[in-house]
Amino acid sequence: MPFVKNVLCIGAGYVGGPTMAVIAQKCPDYRITVVDINPQRIADWNSDDLPIYEPGLLEVVKSCRGRNLFFSTDIAGSIRQADIIFVSVNTPTKTYGEGAGMASDLQYWEKTAHEILKYAESDKIIVEKSTLPVRTAEAMERILKSSGNSVHFEVLSNPEFLAEGSAVKDLLNPDRVLIGGQAHPKGQKAIGELTDLYANWVPRDRIITTNLWSSELSKLVANAFLAQRISSINSISALCEKTDADVSEIARAIGTDQRIGNRFLMASVGFGGSCFRKDILNLVYIARSYGLNEVADYWHQVVQLNDFQKNRFVHRMLTEMFNTVSGKKIAAFGFAFKAETGDTRDSAAITIVEKLLEERALVRLTDPQALSNARKDLIDSSLLSFHDNPYEAAEECHAIAVLTEWPLYRSLDYHRIYSAMKKPAFIFDGRNILDHQTLHRIGFNVFPLGKSALTHF
Ligand code: UDX
Ligand code: ADP
Repeated sequence: MPFVKNVLCIGAGYVGGPTMAVIAQKCPDYRITVVDINPQRIADWNSDDLPIYEPGLLEVVKSCRGRNLFFSTDIAGSIRQADIIFVSVNTPTKTYGEGAGMASDLQYWEKTAHEILKYAESDKIIVEKSTLPVRTAEAMERILKSSGNSVHFEVLSNPEFLAEGSAVKDLLNPDRVLIGGQAHPKGQKAIGELTDLYANWVPRDRIITTNLWSSELSKLVANAFLAQRISSINSISALCEKTDADVSEIARAIGTDQRIGNRFLMASVGFGGSCFRKDILNLVYIARSYGLNEVADYWHQVVQLNDFQKNRFVHRMLTEMFNTVSGKKIAAFGFAFKAETGDTRDSAAITIVEKLLEERALVRLTDPQALSNARKDLIDSSLLSFHDNPYEAAEECHAIAVLTEWPLYRSLDYHRIYSAMKKPAFIFDGRNILDHQTLHRIGFNVFPLGKSALTHF
């Protein structure tokens, strides 16, 4: 059976891999190829040991790999055959030159545009999947039109909103699919083709179409709004600790207002992950580059508050533990940026552990998934040790700091942990996941986030 269309995805990472696997499963009439410059990545996608862990992903991949889903290193041949090309390469924050630490590094993205131009022999729809600064599609179009040949490229923006750990679920049942394109007939025709692809499993009323620039900017704005909610509740957690108000009670009280909604209101040691900081800094950079300094300052504050929250957490540990942690053993429970992932990119735990080490604490790190990444993230130090077993990590410790909300930490035997710790024993619950009253009854001095401390002093 010939396929209706050949779809190519350039970049087999966290976004490209799972997205194409779900498209292949839901669109058996489309031939989906995923390519990458990294041959090991492609080999891993062709094995049963996929390069990323996502619940349910292996089953989806296995259901269509070799049928209509192919992972390949043949970038040139795949570009030639493709009708629709998704570009899903990495766009990290720039680390050099103008905009360093703020703007997106577009070198991988631009290289891809030139490759498409070099190998394409027939008209194609180019879909921006990577998160990109607003008006990047314009640059993409300029590059693609630069050869002056008769091949027509129609550029669309189709940002991905999946969250790590729930990628397959999010892709199968998205709140919305966003497609941005140009208003002229060719643009509208391309939007129609991409809409038809998603309509294989997404109800048409959940497929939103906009102009290109709204689509590009929506992705940055969605992440900025989500992160802003966390910084907002984290700012209130600081106020709660001064006033005996309880941040969880406040989250419940305000979250029942349907206009506010109850999700993303959990106070924490700070947000992390590969997107939030990167996308907000990008937004700030763009606003500043248009001279909108008030807009830039407003959003920058979301990141600054996140940094404040991480520093505040360590400062509180220090002051409550009699102004010194030097030489004291501290168990860090969790290092991943959130539960159900081994990903540690921009995890709040990185900053917190580094600061505790600066204070010369002896940090005993444990995490069910993230220890190998933690070993890479942290500079080797005689003050630092890694433990698979949380009981072993807590042995002889003066304090425990909960940094990731792994459900596992809720079900530990805290009587056993307490009896093996130095006294007075402290728990700083940076995710508010533990039963604070019970811990207090066991004998711990408990410091939840944004709530009154429960101490024995
Ligand atoms: C995010 C967006 O949710 C997703 O739409 C986008 O495509 C990519 O960025 P992700 O980075 O996978 O996804 O994680 P997310 O679940 O959004 O959590 C981000 C951070 O916020 C984590 O560190 C998490 O612990 C923290 N968080 C989340 C809180 O501190 N409190 C909350 O209430 C929710
Ligand atoms: P994301 O989270 O946005 O998916 P990742 O870093 O997980 O980002 O994945 C991006 C992928 O894109 C990487 O596997 C990288 O090797 C690949 N890549 C980068 N540049 C190119 C290119 N020019 N051609 C093909 N693949 C590329």
